[in-house]
Amino acid sequence: MNAKRRPIIAGNWKMNMTATQARDLASKLIPLVSGVKDRDIVLAPTFTSLQTVAEAIKGTNVALAAQNLFWEDKGAFTGEISAEMLLDSGCKYVIIGHSERRQYFGETDETVNKKVRQALNKGLLPIVCVGELLSEREAGKANNVIDRQITGALKGVTAAEMQKIVIAYEPVWAIGTGKTASPDQANEIHAFIRQKVKAMYTAEVADWLRIQYGGSVTPDNVSQLMAKPDIDGALVGGASLKPESFAALVTFK
Ligand code: PGA
Repeated sequence: MNAKRRPIIAGNWKMNMTATQARDLASKLIPLVSGVKDRDIVLAPTFTSLQTVAEAIKGTNVALAAQNLFWEDKGAFTGEISAEMLLDSGCKYVIIGHSERRQYFGETDETVNKKVRQALNKGLLPIVCVGELLSEREAGKANNVIDRQITGALKGVTAAEMQKIVIAYEPVWAIGTGKTASPDQANEIHAFIRQKVKAMYTAEVADWLRIQYGGSVTPDNVSQLMAKPDIDGALVGGASLKPESFAALVTFK
């Protein structure tokens, strides 16, 4: 953490919960985090729960994110969701390029970039996910992979637009596995990302950029992760599905 950057904790609910269950979770969570003033809190339910959760969090300190979007404005794209639809559903943020999207739905650096640019053009704040596979880490290629993903995702993004972007570093081997990257391992890649962004833009842009860590973050390890200078937040899957555990994460000391 760095005093200059406001921490951002986001819950990625993935393909879990009906709208009724999502409303229930959001309404139990809100009173537990209502006193939090110094950090951003974001919830990313499924598309079918966005409006319900938007109503539940209205007027609170919790913001809404979608888990994906499509890069075209509208038209014959069966099964896809546009930026305008997400804004209309109350979204402020959108998660882009999550490793599960890359792994199971064929997303590439190129499609991630199209989505990032569409989100920015339409006024959604992208949470751009990057992260290496276990095999890539073991082959000593983690930095190369991150370099390629960052270069690809940010193609054509201006320095001014960079202020609207959050990057989430999520090593694929740490997602849903209970194997968190150690705080030092995570910080090393975060620092690498910041250096890379500095080289692509300016020191100032890099300094303001918020970089979340994701991958088996829990109330037990969040404080050690957040104590690292280049870790500015968390993108949380499993531990965001219970109000008490997500509240404990958000209120880390
Ligand atoms: P996890 O998921 O916290 O369940 O590991 C993180 C993510 O995929 O965003």
